[in-house]
Amino acid sequence: MAEEPDLDFKSMPKIELHAHLTGSISRKCLHEIWEVKRAAGETDLEDPLIVMPPGRHDYDLKTFFPLFSTYIYNLVNDLKSLEYSTKSVVKNFAEDGVVYVELRTTPRAMTVAGLDKSGYVEAVLRAIKAAQLEAPSLHARLILSIDRRNSIEEAHGVIALAKGFQEQGVVAIDICGDPTKGDVSLFTPAIEEAKAAGLKVTIHFAEAEASASEAELNTILSWLPDRLGHVIHVPEDIKRQIAARTGIGLELCLSCNVHAKMIVGSFEAHHFGEWWRVDGPVVVPCTDDVGVFGSPLSNEWRLIQEHFKLQRAEILGLARKGIDVIFAGDDEKSRLIGLMW
Ligand code: IMP
Ligand code: ZN
Repeated sequence: MAEEPDLDFKSMPKIELHAHLTGSISRKCLHEIWEVKRAAGETDLEDPLIVMPPGRHDYDLKTFFPLFSTYIYNLVNDLKSLEYSTKSVVKNFAEDGVVYVELRTTPRAMTVAGLDKSGYVEAVLRAIKAAQLEAPSLHARLILSIDRRNSIEEAHGVIALAKGFQEQGVVAIDICGDPTKGDVSLFTPAIEEAKAAGLKVTIHFAEAEASASEAELNTILSWLPDRLGHVIHVPEDIKRQIAARTGIGLELCLSCNVHAKMIVGSFEAHHFGEWWRVDGPVVVPCTDDVGVFGSPLSNEWRLIQEHFKLQRAEILGLARKGIDVIFAGDDEKSRLIGLMW
């Protein structure tokens, strides 16, 4: 029998559905922003290549979130760096063979630059649009994130922005942030408002033990989310509920979970192995924060082949199934069917 040709994961058309904008900025791009600011005397921050040495990917839940609050948000803190980094993220995904990406970001006022949260979202959308002109093979949409530490008023503010920018490419809302903080049940009215407005819903789910109480997981499932992210510390009865939800998307992030030690063991132990064959839910491999964990989407697929021994047809079939759970409409789905078959 003829041997199966090797898959070239970079040129394989891919869909990315779980990528945090700021966490997807490459160290090279952060360094470029820093160099310009330093030359203009606009920053006294340390070089990103020293703060985040190129080979370092072992950020865990304790070191990961402060990286943003104490460093990256202080560097990417004005319109110019926001637009530059957003374009760079989109271009990097396109260069990796990603043909459709849903970026997500937490609206953040940039006080130094006189930008409120609405101005932030507007700038991100503008930069995405500009980057797409340079990389027309890639189509992008935006998801707005509520941070777990947000108040209900702030959460409603995020929904208001998502509703206001729906025509410009905002398709959904997310709840993210430090899983050891906050109480998601607060956000039930905000989620209901989002759904009533036709926004889709994806939620970070059982990412750490602290965010995996049966009460929290049942609350999230009661919202009937369209997709779930991570899905790590899930008790058996909740697994059965998820398995019974035909068409729910599961955004699984292998390198992130392994490098951040969010799972016990290495790639072979990842719950991708448990979920990818289950009928009903649609498993989509995602990067989460490629700028931090350093593994582009093409490499996530390579890891899947290496550690779970999927055959070529299984990989292509799984990649195509992702189309069912994107948050864009039928035209975009048809375009992806054309590209991925
Ligand atoms: P941003 O929302 O575009 O600023 O992207 C970075 C933010 O995404 C971080 O400050 C976190 O709040 C959130 N984030 C990134 N990765 C994760 C994750 O794995 N779990 C929960 N939140 C995350
Ligand atoms: Zn995430």
